[in-house]
This record gives sequence, C-alpha cells and structure tokens, in this order.
Amino acid sequence: MDRLRLLSGVTAILALVISADGFASSAGAELEPANIDPGNISSLQRGARNFMNYCSGCHSAQYVRYNTIGKYLELSEEQLVDNLMFNAEKTFETIQSSMPAADAARWYGVAPPDLSLMARAKGSDHIYNFLKGFYLDPESPTGVDNLVLAGTSMPHVLWELQGYQRASFAEHTEGGVTSREFDGFEQVTTGMLDEEDYDEFVRDTVNFLAYIAEPIRSERRKLGVWVLMYLIVFLVIAAMLKKQIWKDVK
Ligand code: HEC
Repeated sequence: MDRLRLLSGVTAILALVISADGFASSAGAELEPANIDPGNISSLQRGARNFMNYCSGCHSAQYVRYNTIGKYLELSEEQLVDNLMFNAEKTFETIQSSMPAADAARWYGVAPPDLSLMARAKGSDHIYNFLKGFYLDPESPTGVDNLVLAGTSMPHVLWELQGYQRASFAEHTEGGVTSREFDGFEQVTTGMLDEEDYDEFVRDTVNFLAYIAEPIRSERRKLGVWVLMYLIVFLVIAAMLKKQIWKDVK
C-alpha cells in the first residue's frame, strides 16, 4: 500500500516537472535559442571584432573599457589597438560610437541605444533573433522591417553578409478579427555568408554582448563553487559540534 502511494507520488511529481518544462518551451516558442557559449574565448574574440566592425559606428558600449576586454579575451595590447580600437586612442577608454547621439536621433528617429547592458535587458535570444529577423518591407524608410522588433528604425546593417529575405505571413480571421502569423522567410538575394555561417556570426556577436553585459559572470560562478564547498565543510563541523554539545543531555 505504502509503496503504491510512493509510486503515485513520484509519478505526480514527474508529471508536474514534465508539464512545467513543456510550458516553458511553449512560452518562448517564437524565439530560436541563441546557444551562446560564454566560456569560448575565440567566439568572444570574433564577437568583439564583429561588434567593432559592424555595430560601433552607431552603438556605444559606454560601460566597457578596451583594456578590460583585452585582458579577458587574452589579447595583447598590440592586438587590441590594431583590431578593435577604431574609435579610441587609449586602452583605458570606454567604447564610444563614432556617431554623435543627436545626429543619430535625427537620422534614425531613435538614437541607437547603448549596448553595454542590452543582453541583460532584452536577453541573448532576443538579440540573436533580432539580428536574424530583418526582412524586406517597401513601406519602411529603411527598406526593411524586423520580426522581433516591428517598425524598428535600425537598418539591416548586416545585409552584405546575410543577403535580403522576404517574410511571409498567414492571415487568420476569427470572430471578425484578422491576425497575422509569421509563416517563414524566403531568401531574395544571397549574402557573403551561407545561413550556417551567418548564424555563427550572429551567435559570436551576441556572445560578446552577453559577456560585456555581465563581465564577472564566469568569475562569480567559480566563486560560487568555493562558497558551496565552504558551506558543506561548515555543515559537517556544525553537525559534529552539535553532537558533542548534546551528548550528555539524554
Ligand atoms: C546604422 C546605425 C546602426 C548600426 C550600424 C547598428 N545599429 Fe543597432 N540600432 C540602431 C538604431 C537606430 C536602433 C533603435 C531601433 C529602434 O528602437 O527602433 C538600434 C537598436 C538595436 C538594438 C535594440 C533592439 C531592441 O529590441 O530594442 C540592438 C540589440 C541592436 N541595435 C544591435 C545592433 C548590433 C549587434 C549591431 C551590429 C551588428 C547594430 N545594432 C548595428 C542603429 C544601428
């Protein structure tokens, strides 16, 4: 009887875990996971290069210093200066965009936001899908719209790499209300990278943005292991102490 109860209890818990998991994945169904690897230094190096070449013209990362990145990404000062520092003179400077914010606001309607903390604000998956989600829209002033951020004023700055794609939508009418549902992309012009390489390019870039948004993340994780080990040792000592103190009280 008891065993039966136990078994039904375990089954109930398992069912809960499985359904919770199903719920989580269906909630984020529209966003493809970025699958970044924060410990992969060469991916971060490529991401830094991508950011400096394709993003820093418009976006700053004003909480990030070049020398901090250089140290973490294992770059020599020379590599740092030659490969990443286009807008700066000194390695202790922060990453500024080459475009004055006021001009940017006039040209794009919205000033390009600072990207230091963007990965924490919006999530890596959001940025990954944003950079993959530009599609042709003749009515937009930039010629494109975005699946993740509809009506965005950011142009498709990576068009040379990805090429242009068109989005198709399926229309549903239910109770007099028409809604649009994304139905897939169709490649219109090809870029310099094939789909797999473009995904990799974007993944590296997002990896870098996730790193600058939380530079001490990997150190914090390492520290966490030590803290847990300390707590376990302390628990053993406390248990022994308790036994010692209570041994005469019985
Ligand atoms: C030509 C200027 C320009 C360049 C280059 C550029 N962006 Fe942007 N970006 C913008 C503007 C303008 C916005 C504001 C868009 C809006 O809010 O509609 C923006 C917004 C964003 C956002 C915020 C999206 C959101 O959901 O709020 C992210 C993330 C972003 N850019 C990433 C990048 C990355 C990564 C690169 C380099 C690959 C890049 N941008 C290159 C102009 C630019």
